Amino acid sequence: VTQTAGDPTVSRKGDHIDIILGQDVRARVNGWDDVHLVHEALPEVDLDEIDTRTTLLNHDLEAPIMVASMTGGYPGAKAINERLAAAAAAHGFAMGVGSQRAMLKDPSQAPTYEVVREHDVPFIAANIGAPQLIAQGDTKPLETRDILRLIDAIDADALIVHLNYLQEVVQPEGDTRAAGVWHAIEHLVKEAPVPVIAKETGAGLSATTAARLVESGVAAIDVGGLSGTTFAAVERVRAERAGAAAHARLGELFRDWGIATPVALREALTAECEVIATGGLRHGLDVARAVALGAHCTGLASATLAAASQSAQAVEALMDQLVAELRTGMFLSGASTVDELRDRPVVVTGAVREHLLALGHDPTALGHGRRRPGSA
Ligand SMILES: Cc1cc2nc3c(=O)[nH]c(=O)nc-3n(C[C@H](O)[C@H](O)[C@H](O)COP(=O)(O)O)c2cc1C
Repeated sequence: VTQTAGDPTVSRKGDHIDIILGQDVRARVNGWDDVHLVHEALPEVDLDEIDTRTTLLNHDLEAPIMVASMTGGYPGAKAINERLAAAAAAHGFAMGVGSQRAMLKDPSQAPTYEVVREHDVPFIAANIGAPQLIAQGDTKPLETRDILRLIDAIDADALIVHLNYLQEVVQPEGDTRAAGVWHAIEHLVKEAPVPVIAKETGAGLSATTAARLVESGVAAIDVGGLSGTTFAAVERVRAERAGAAAHARLGELFRDWGIATPVALREALTAECEVIATGGLRHGLDVARAVALGAHCTGLASATLAAASQSAQAVEALMDQLVAELRTGMFLSGASTVDELRDRPVVVTGAVREHLLALGHDPTALGHGRRRPGSA
């Protein structure tokens, strides 16, 4: 049954973009400020010779950068996805679309996602929420054929399953059943024709959770850590507007809930899979920091959104700047390739250091980030 644009999933998607563009919904502390590359006064590599190329699940990228899953599913999303995809294609970045639940509910929204395939993006990820893999109230779990439709619609190279229980619990209409999700992911991995990536959405994940996800068969993990956009704050604004005071208070209290992205990254790197670091990355220097800390790829969501809501040129300029900042960070730390950057020393200070120590990591041994799983 085709539903109208009055469908709650469809209008929620538009709310999210407006709130994230218009309000302060970031974590109060950004963990990337605690991560420092060490200056190399003798880089012994020409700036022009620096090579940012890498791979993500065997797809070639021009840089270890992904436009993180954000949108689709409401009329205004088409232009945003189109601009992001055009620029991602031009720069050789990976890209994820936002949750595709809206196009299952309202097939007329499919073009807002499908538009990304009009551009030659080297790696495109489909997206669905883990809560939708199990029954929620009267709503049945998604079936395999639904998931296949989502993958087919954008000819996706991978399927992202997002974990967002912080958001769901603050949302007055949230889906808070969670028992059985691990089995549902395990089942999905078997049925999906493309690799599955498990992704948090701003609260991060631990080494134990990463290990369980790898056991379920996922090919990669996006740690989606705390440092940038926090959906506790986003849903707080929505709850306030809806007059749901108790939920608004939950959103305020849990605004800084989660595992900071640099900590979640080191935790996830203990599992045998490729790891994407998303959450709070503001510029190409944060990308360089994340790679030096061991990330195989990085993801930027809100940092790209303002430009994407303006114009194609604004997105192009932003991505040029990101690459220039990454290259500068590599040059000044004496890394001529992404693999070398992953082996450069990193100094970790402040709260991130304390968290790493408390979790049993050795912050003095950082900068020898793990190579790609299975590589020599
Ligand atoms: C407007 C917006 C919508 C988002 N929607 C999704 C989504 O549908 N699926 C998903 O996996 N993550 C979604 N996210 C989460 C991001 O992919 C990312 O994990 C999170 O925003 C942290 O990154 P940031 O600090 O760079 O924004 C969304 C983020 C934003 C800003």
